[in-house]
Amino acid sequence: MLKKDLNSSQPVVEAFVKNKRILLIIGGGIAAYKCLDLIRRLRERGAGVRVVMTRAAQEFITPLSVSALTNDRVFSDLFDLDDEREIGHIRLSREADAIIVAPATSDLIAKMAGGHANDLATSVLLASDKAPLLAPAMNPHMWLNKATQRNVEQLKADGIAFVGPETGEMAERGEAGPGRLVETAELIAALETMPGMSAGGPAASGPLSGRHVIVTSGPTHEPIDPVRYIANRSSGKQGHAIAAAAARAGARVTLISGPVSLPDPRDVETWHVETAAEMQAAVAGALPADIAVFCAAVADWRVAEQGGQKIKKEKGAPPPALNLVANPDILRTVATLKTGRPRLVVGFAAETENVLAHAQAKLAAKGCDLIVANDVSAAKGVMGGDRNSVHLVTREGHIDWPEMSKEDVAAKLVDEFVRRFSESAFSMTDKAKRAMKSDKPRHKKKKVRKS
Ligand code: CTP
Repeated sequence: MLKKDLNSSQPVVEAFVKNKRILLIIGGGIAAYKCLDLIRRLRERGAGVRVVMTRAAQEFITPLSVSALTNDRVFSDLFDLDDEREIGHIRLSREADAIIVAPATSDLIAKMAGGHANDLATSVLLASDKAPLLAPAMNPHMWLNKATQRNVEQLKADGIAFVGPETGEMAERGEAGPGRLVETAELIAALETMPGMSAGGPAASGPLSGRHVIVTSGPTHEPIDPVRYIANRSSGKQGHAIAAAAARAGARVTLISGPVSLPDPRDVETWHVETAAEMQAAVAGALPADIAVFCAAVADWRVAEQGGQKIKKEKGAPPPALNLVANPDILRTVATLKTGRPRLVVGFAAETENVLAHAQAKLAAKGCDLIVANDVSAAKGVMGGDRNSVHLVTREGHIDWPEMSKEDVAAKLVDEFVRRFSESAFSMTDKAKRAMKSDKPRHKKKKVRKS
């Protein structure tokens, strides 16, 4: 339980928020700036924080500052087609353990009480399967207004929890009364009572505790028609072993697996997908992460036009030609993210010849930090087998590991992750740090027309 040291910059190791995924909806009020501190405190305690900002909130704090602190992109637009494809409002709420609305403005409260859904924040709240925690903040007259009080009573009757507002001086000169956002410590303490926040889950301690690790594993299946598909020989054994080893090291692990015949590893949240496109969407939904390991043997191509019905043989006709199109390169997409790139991005290179040369070229082409290269030529029996012999390729050079079981490769890899990860509680990318230093308002100056 967390009751002290809330203003310390040191990590509080045994906080109940550890490994939890918090969705923070920031409303448009002067108190929005306090959310920057809230994000830091939650992240220090090992929580993943994803943020939705209303349009009005962006007038008070910039998405750039929020993004630098969450190490993730900020979500704000309901009609962003990319987001709707990659991670829509339903997943934003479903993938969170708890939702906080802060500052909960009179407008947001009114919209929630009325069941409105005319922007991303209200759509997420309406589509959610969990009740949010509301931290109101507004001018005392707005708070005490009968309409606001009626809406608050309605939401309370609907089972929605409130923390605050506090009574005191307001930012506006001469204004005082109920309407101040509660202090960060009180807000975090109130989170403990939320249903999704009970302790448990993966190992509470270990060298990767507080870290989120995403692993892709197995093959992808690319349908040709309803009964046929393009596949490969990947068994998923290596990726699943890495997910299990990371969980044993205390990380919160999201395993995104193609079709395999393996059981889901213990203490690992496993998402099952079939195609490369589904795997890419799942990875986007699982971010942010500290470490991402791309072990899946993703099909490089899919059939351009999938048959709606089973393709039939026709007497005397030539076999059908399969028109292939390239699949998205998931590893490259994540490794080259401008915001929200995991600090450590690891790829695999499955080669049948010139293993090291190909792996070095892949490291550069894909922009990852580490490539685990292996020889998958038939003679080695790696694909589907239980043993592996790998080379760790970095920009500085390579290390050859002797042949060992896939479990041992996984354990040694996780040791390598631990070694590379500093123990600092809060780690921003260098780019995010630079962005923070020059966090000036991004609005272009409006041209003033002289009359
Ligand atoms: N990968 C990916 N998405 C793809 C293809 C590959 O994320 N569409 C990832 C794999 O999970 C692996 C790495 O990229 O970590 C290398 O995959 P590999 O198939 O060996 O290389 P390719 O990029 O497909 O190149 P080639 O087939 O020419 O060897």
